Amino acid sequence: MFRRPPRPLLPFLASLALASTASTALAAPPSFVIHPYLQHLSPAEVTVRFELATDAPASVEVRSGDTPASRIESPASRFHSVTLRGLQPATSYSYSVRSGDLSSDAATFTTSHHEPDRPFSFVLYGDSRSGSTPHGAVARAIEASASDFLVGTGDVVVTGGDRNAWLEFFAIEQRLLSDRCLFSAIGNHELTFPLKSRGPWIDYFAVDRNDRSTSWFSFRWGNTRFLVLDAMDRWNDSQAEWLRAELTKADTEPGIAHRFVVMHHSPFSSGPHGPNRPFLEAGMVDELVRHKVELVMAGHDHIYERGEARGIKYIISGGAGAPLYAYKRGPGSLAGVSAYHFVDMHVDGDLVTAVARRTDRSVIEEVSFRGTGAWQAPLAAAASASAPAPTASGPVVSAAGPDLPGSRESRCACSLPGSPAPWGPWLTLALPFAPLLRRHRYRRA
Ligand SMILES: [Fe+2]
Repeated sequence: MFRRPPRPLLPFLASLALASTASTALAAPPSFVIHPYLQHLSPAEVTVRFELATDAPASVEVRSGDTPASRIESPASRFHSVTLRGLQPATSYSYSVRSGDLSSDAATFTTSHHEPDRPFSFVLYGDSRSGSTPHGAVARAIEASASDFLVGTGDVVVTGGDRNAWLEFFAIEQRLLSDRCLFSAIGNHELTFPLKSRGPWIDYFAVDRNDRSTSWFSFRWGNTRFLVLDAMDRWNDSQAEWLRAELTKADTEPGIAHRFVVMHHSPFSSGPHGPNRPFLEAGMVDELVRHKVELVMAGHDHIYERGEARGIKYIISGGAGAPLYAYKRGPGSLAGVSAYHFVDMHVDGDLVTAVARRTDRSVIEEVSFRGTGAWQAPLAAAASASAPAPTASGPVVSAAGPDLPGSRESRCACSLPGSPAPWGPWLTLALPFAPLLRRHRYRRA
């Protein structure tokens, strides 16, 4: 009987692999894995970042009005970070990205400015991780707010080392981030298992992607100095020194009327996570008081809360997608609600206005303050327990209130300063490995 000779296996597999590679190369047109988004917007510069499906060169074309476009080339790579320099302050530009036959949708941005008398707006939101549906609803609602930029309170993704979580985040916020720069604080979930490093966060958001050590920064817009902190710190080393120096510098910075702090875990919060104890115990709140910081904006607790403590006003905005927590009024708290939301912020001279909105853009409350003065009575009708907003999300609670429908205690397994660790048994098992951990920071899941 005729018997077919055995076919050599390795050449056969190699030919299959080559055929597969060739067909993939032929079949896969160039595409964006992460569409172009803006970072580090300043009066003179902006960085455009994007990721392609394959290594390829790319270019960014930018123009203002009818002026000829400038083109900046970027060498072959999957991830591109292209800084556009020599821009004019408070000027609108259009830009697009090209790579071979691939071209991004046209997008625009407006550079920042340092003009003390020029009003500006930004949107505050955070804790988008875990919930793609509510996150999408928040993102779509923010798109309808005309703001100059975005401020994030952290926990962008549920697991910092999970690439798919990042891709989902960028897919949901693609339109938003193509036109507006997101200045985001790092959250504890950016540092969670299996990759307890700032790596991906640094790649996507840091000024210098080669500098793996820093995750805090400051920027100025108009008459306001923003200090964006890494809240997951013990406050006994470089960041504490940096913050003291920045605050001292801002004391005498010409044209500065406001100093705002952005951090993931606030020293003031009525949510289940409570206050950031390392920050408090290191005396950092004393520094904020001493240097006349007016407002701390944070997330971590998945609620909207507004309050004032030690003369510093604060907002907790952690309702951009993660499971909501119950709001129970604590010391210093003036209002709060368990609802997916974001906050429209507007600065005009010494007047600062905050409008907290649900995903249907209905107003939770509208409040304001001037400089170091106290919060002014809510301007909109919704901010009273006696006149609750007629939505399923529940009313704003301006006094001690009940748990609201749909809200619950934290289940995110976060272990934070001053709170008991829910993973105590696992910690016991891990104690023999404790010397391997860096001591000067905490990174909690
Ligand atoms: Fe968090």
